[in-house]
Amino acid sequence: MSAETVERRVTAVSLLFAAAMLGLLGFAALRLGISVPNHVTTVKPFTEGQLIQTAPGRYEAHVVSKMFSFKPDPLKIPKGSLVDFYLTTTDVVHGFYIEGTDVNLMAVPNAVNYAQARFDRPGKYRVVCHEFCGGGHQDMVGTIEVTP
Ligand code: CUA
Repeated sequence: MSAETVERRVTAVSLLFAAAMLGLLGFAALRLGISVPNHVTTVKPFTEGQLIQTAPGRYEAHVVSKMFSFKPDPLKIPKGSLVDFYLTTTDVVHGFYIEGTDVNLMAVPNAVNYAQARFDRPGKYRVVCHEFCGGGHQDMVGTIEVTP
């Protein structure tokens, strides 16, 4: 068998495999109804980001980070509040560090990361992105306002 014949056969088999994979993909999507998972930011409350009061002094902060901000911003809560943070991102990986607290998370695409913090001191807490995320990274700052 000549080298040219071998090459043609290998190419034909490769194309056959590619066509079979494409066919199976189409079959899975159209006949079996299998699809890839949606992005978490297409699901409430991560479509916009939201601060939810669950009880007196208890909050859930569903924070969405994106180039180059955190939503919602600012987060306004009364002194003494206990806040559960749920964090995700619409684009690339960001950092989420709340100055003056132990909260230091990564915002990872299609994942939700969690931390909890109590805010006993009134004032403004800066939230900074500590992961290089693009041209505006150095300006990616949010605020948590703790009222007396
Ligand atoms: Cu977001 Cu750096």
